[in-house]
Formats: sequence, C-alpha cells, structure tokens
Amino acid sequence: MYKSLRSADKIAKPDAIAITLPSGVKRVPKKYAALDKQLDGSIAALIKRAEFSADAGSLTCVYPAKGPSRLYVIGLGDVKQDDTLRALRVGAASLVRAASKAKVGSLLFKDGDAVDADSAGRAIGEGLSIGAFEFVDHKGAATDKADPGPRTLRIVIDPAMRKGLKNALTVGESANMARRLAATPPNVANPAYLVKFARKMARQVGLKCSVIDAKMARELGMGGLAAVGKAGSTPPALIMLEHAPRGKTKDAPVMLVGKAITFDTGGYSLKISGSMANMKYDKCGGMAVLGAMHAIASLKLPVRVVGLIAAAENMIDAGAYRVDDILTMYNGVTVEVTNTDAEGRLVLADALAYGCKQYKPAAIVDLATLTGGVVVAFGEYCAGMFCGDDKLATRLTESGRATGERLWPLPLWPEHRKQMKSTHADIANSAGRGAHPIQGAAFLSYFVDENVPWAHLDIAGVADVSGDKDFAGLYPKGPTAFGVRLLTRALESWR
Ligand code: BES
Ligand code: MN
Ligand code: ZN
Repeated sequence: MYKSLRSADKIAKPDAIAITLPSGVKRVPKKYAALDKQLDGSIAALIKRAEFSADAGSLTCVYPAKGPSRLYVIGLGDVKQDDTLRALRVGAASLVRAASKAKVGSLLFKDGDAVDADSAGRAIGEGLSIGAFEFVDHKGAATDKADPGPRTLRIVIDPAMRKGLKNALTVGESANMARRLAATPPNVANPAYLVKFARKMARQVGLKCSVIDAKMARELGMGGLAAVGKAGSTPPALIMLEHAPRGKTKDAPVMLVGKAITFDTGGYSLKISGSMANMKYDKCGGMAVLGAMHAIASLKLPVRVVGLIAAAENMIDAGAYRVDDILTMYNGVTVEVTNTDAEGRLVLADALAYGCKQYKPAAIVDLATLTGGVVVAFGEYCAGMFCGDDKLATRLTESGRATGERLWPLPLWPEHRKQMKSTHADIANSAGRGAHPIQGAAFLSYFVDENVPWAHLDIAGVADVSGDKDFAGLYPKGPTAFGVRLLTRALESWR
C-alpha cells in the first residue's frame, strides 16, 4: 500500500485515469467526449455493457486499448437520491486499494461535478486516504510479504478541487495516525506509550504538550483517573496538547477531551470474555483527540484548541479499585463506584473538571467509547450526541453531515442527573440499566462548568467496525478514527 498520497500539478503520462458516472447514464457525458476519443471509445463501450452499473460508490476498471493502462469509473448512483459525497468517498477508497494492487503510481482524476468542487475534492481525498490505511506492524513470519508496489501515489485533479483534495489528504494522514494507534495492541500501546507518542508528535507538528503523571494526579485530587489506572501495567496520565496560533494565545480555547482506556477488562466488574475482545479500541476517543490536534496543527487553523487525553488501563490486581469504593474527584464531587466497568466516565470526569478550571474553555467536546447502550441503539451508523447548546450541536451536526461522520442527538434531562444520586456519596458511577447511554452523559455533567457549551459524543459504536462492511462500506474491519475529520472540519470554520 502507498505510504503517501500527494497532490501534483501536472503529470505527463498518468498510469491511470479516474472519472465518475451517474447510474442510468445512456451516452458519454459531454465533459468526457474528448477523453473518450483519446481512450478509443472505451467509455462509450463501457456504458453499453449490460453488466455495467454506476451504483453509488461502485468502482469499475476498464483497460483501454489506447492511452493510459487503466480507466477507473466511480459510480455516483442516482444523483438526486444518493449522497454524492458518500459515493465519491466510498468509490475513492476502493480505487486507491485497486490502484495500489495494480502498482499505479500516478492518477489523473477527471471531475465529478455533481456537487461543488471543494466538497468533491475533499470527499475524494477523504476516500483515498481512508482506503490507503493498512496496519501491518504486527504481521510476522506466517504472512507472505507481497511486493508493496509504489510508495507514493501522485494525484492530479481539476484545479477547482485541488484545495479540497489537499486539505483532505492532510486530515487523512492525521486520521490514519489515530487509526494506527487505535489498532496498536494493549501490550504495546499502554498509557506510558501514549505519553511518549504524544510528546514526540507534539514536537513534530508544533503543539505544546504537558503531562500530569500518576503522582501529580493523586496530589491534585484526581481520584477517578488515579483509581481506574491503579492496576494498569503502566501508570495513568492526563496528556494535554495545546494549539495556540499567534494572536490567539489569550483566547478562550475550544477544549477537546478524549477517553483513552488502553484496555478495558472491566476491572473487578469483569467483562465476560466475548465482550472483552476489541477493548483495545477503548482508547479511540483519546486517539481521535490526538489525531484532531495533529490535523489542526498541520493545517495551522487560526483558533486556539486544547486537547486532553485521559489515559489509563482498566485492570485487576490487589491494589485495583473496587465496587463500593468512594472516590473524591478533582472538583470535590464524591463518587460511589457501583461498577468498575463504568471506568471511562471516571477518567473523563477528572479531565473535564481540570480542563474547565485550568483553561476556562469557550466550548467543550468530549469523545468516548462510553457505553454498550449506544451500540445497541445506533449500531455502527452514527455516534450519540448529548448537547444542550443549540449552536454547538448545529456546528457538529453539520460537520458530521459534510464528513459522513454522523451524529444523532439523545436527551439529557434533570431526571437523568437525579438518577445518578448515591446513598453515601454524591453520585454513583452507574445506576442500573435504565437510560444506559444517558447515564454516562448525566454523570459527566457533574464535572463540566455550567454555562460552557458542551457536547458529549458517545462513539462506542463507530470507533471501529467489526466486519469488512461498515456504516458506509468505507472501512475494512478495524479502527475508523471517527471524530478526527468531524472535529477538524468543525474547527476550520470556528468563529
Ligand atoms: N468501554 C465500555 C463501553 C463499550 C462497550 C465500548 C462496547 C465499545 C463496545 C465501557 O467502559 C463500559 O464497559 N461500559 C459499560 C457501562 C456499564 C457498566 C454502566 C457498558 O456499556 O456495559
Ligand atoms: Mn468499561
Ligand atoms: Zn471502557
């Protein structure tokens, strides 16, 4: 697979050409007339084939007798009914996989002008970079090492789409970095590994990085983070990244907070074995924040952003926290542990409370693989959003629509907050089965300053896909880095 995807201004003889066609197309669209001639009528011949369809997101490869060795056709489906951006994204993801196999080194992309050029360029770039992800770090002696083909794919696209394409390729690299981390197994990617990685990444892209280690966390009174991480193979930590562009260093920042449980056994409220598999993905909220910070810094967005990553490993030993323990959190709220498997909210709580005090944020978005309930409700199709601020909710929802990282609102009412009350402490970390995903949000609300616009995104269903089909046919089995594109896009237009 390619290591990098580059936008190029010009290529004399591209290895392949890509075009888009809507379904039901009867003859060669005018914009492709000259190209078709150059390809000896290949497009016209394809359209006449009985087996040809241009279903949304489909990919067809043609081998023209003349011209470049390959013509890739992305199907747009019914342009009135189907989501064209989604079709471009999915088609481009298939394309990059096919092109890599075919050892294509350069690609000329002829436009799909069913949507505005910038959005089209972005969707194509998103699809190409999503499709070019591969995690082979741990493939060993029993895997045949296939010839990887060219390291770089150079892409020439219509100048109107070039800016969108470049932007998406940059964000895509950040997302793929987050996916790589997410896929890294828990015996490697423990909290200490994340700290080291974040420090190095921050240096590379020019972010400030500071870390509250376990000792400091205890001294600061972060009872949640300290307790959850106590039995971990390495100590817990709160990683803080800051993007403070010139002239904005005094602005109230947007604060992103992510849950990074490097492995969730459930603790003494042990998970049954089937539900413990894939709990390396319980760090995906934090990895999305890391990826978004990487993208924001790479794009040099003119907005101050801080990213907090609460890293811990939820394990068992003699010192591990237990059910019935009562913890005192950073903001003085006491929590009765009723379930050690409701650990994400405990680490997030301290991060949120500390972040509010330290940074006085203008808005907060947290991302967490928090509850199985949201997976039951939404599957892999969207994340659950809890947000009492209409403006923030709209921003995020629109960004979700544009990037295909969909959000759907869930309520949080005073009744839900009351549900969390405990007998001997202020609140419990879990209050039975009713309103399960909402309980997580209700719990977190005790740690966020009132009056600060806040959105809690429960990404348990979308952080990884469990089979080689997903909410859009975009991702192979594995991590999605859900949130990186969503957050970056929302922050691009932040005012
Ligand atoms: N990390 C899990 C949530 C999860 C479940 C993520 C499935 C991805 C897939 C979380 O820490 C957890 O265990 N939640 C419990 C909460 C309960 C104990 C209140 C759950 O959802 O069952
Ligand atoms: Mn858990
Ligand atoms: Zn968890």
